[in-house]
Amino acid sequence: VPTRRQWLKAVAATGTAPLAACGAPDAYEQAAHATWHPSDPLPAQASAVRRELVRCATLAPSSHNTQCWKFRIGERGIDILADLSRRCPVVDPDDHHLHVSLGCAAENLVLAAAHHGLHAEARFEPATGIRLALEKATASTSALYAAIPQRQSTRGDYDGRPLAADELRLLEAAGSGRGARVMLLTARPVMEQVLELVVAGNTAQFADKAFVEELKAWIRFDGDEAVRRGDGLYAASSGNPTAPRWLGPHLFDWFVTADGENDKVRRQIRSSAGLAVFFSDADDAAHWVEVGRCCERFALQAAALDIRTAYLNQPVEVAALRPRLATLLGIGARRPDLVVRFGRGPRLPVSLRRPLAAVIDAT
Ligand SMILES: Cc1cc2nc3c(=O)[nH]c(=O)nc-3n(C[C@H](O)[C@H](O)[C@H](O)COP(=O)(O)O)c2cc1C
Repeated sequence: VPTRRQWLKAVAATGTAPLAACGAPDAYEQAAHATWHPSDPLPAQASAVRRELVRCATLAPSSHNTQCWKFRIGERGIDILADLSRRCPVVDPDDHHLHVSLGCAAENLVLAAAHHGLHAEARFEPATGIRLALEKATASTSALYAAIPQRQSTRGDYDGRPLAADELRLLEAAGSGRGARVMLLTARPVMEQVLELVVAGNTAQFADKAFVEELKAWIRFDGDEAVRRGDGLYAASSGNPTAPRWLGPHLFDWFVTADGENDKVRRQIRSSAGLAVFFSDADDAAHWVEVGRCCERFALQAAALDIRTAYLNQPVEVAALRPRLATLLGIGARRPDLVVRFGRGPRLPVSLRRPLAAVIDAT
């Protein structure tokens, strides 16, 4: 891994000031603040409420922060459509993560609708995406809804302490749904076995040039670029130093190695309270969407309890490792969908989102 010092030294050697020294974080902080605020008091018009529901949906996680969604606002409801121009064909060749991401967005929208006095019934149609039919209902707010602006994928080390049994029960209940559920692993020996698979997946991915190029294309090495594009993986959100756009990819090539990332992953898992593996009854797009809904409820429940979460999906992204993970979990022929670690620890800088105008489909 690049040590922070090595990275900063490399940036300094080019004569370019690292981002933190040139005042740009203000722009990032402003954008972050504008993105992650709780709901403002709203005018009663249905159109304002619908836009607010879309805003809450866009605060969901998405693979590589691609925000692979479009929203079509109609009289009776809102459709969430896949934005196929934002696919990641290397890491996600069958669009599994893309559909999970749409499910995460749908869950946020359903929770926000309830807060604003609307019942949202979600139905997935392979041809049209997720249709959310909206009907008037008694407003009901929830801890999960309130946690939408608090949730983040926190990729730092955690404090290594176990969670209380009632916290684990709440997480397990939140992460289970219709045809999809979560298995929590908190015993160290089994966590070490999953760790071996994460390391094997990471090693395979770093040996794959196409994977590395796709990942690099979504990293926003510099805060200005992150603000301008409003998507992707901002280096600081992963606990990494920032660098000018022209230099970042070179620093990545020089310093980011499979061995270094594997050391990081070992620290991350060993400092976590546990691992959550999501799996579903069938391996199809409808179930991937449901996995997304379960996983987002899990992450929001965690955020509501001030518990951090972060994905470690290497063993489900490298297809050859999935059967080994399934055997370890005893889930038979079912596909393990997602791996998430959880625990307590400090927050990191938040990721950004594109403006609503970029995701609302006007056609
Ligand atoms: C389906 C899916 C898969 C993801 N896989 C990973 C992963 O393997 N590693 C990781 O660090 N983050 C992963 N993420 C997290 C995204 O990178 C993250 O949601 C995005 O950067 C936005 O940041 P936020 O979650 O803090 O809002 C995944 C997210 C989703 C929805």
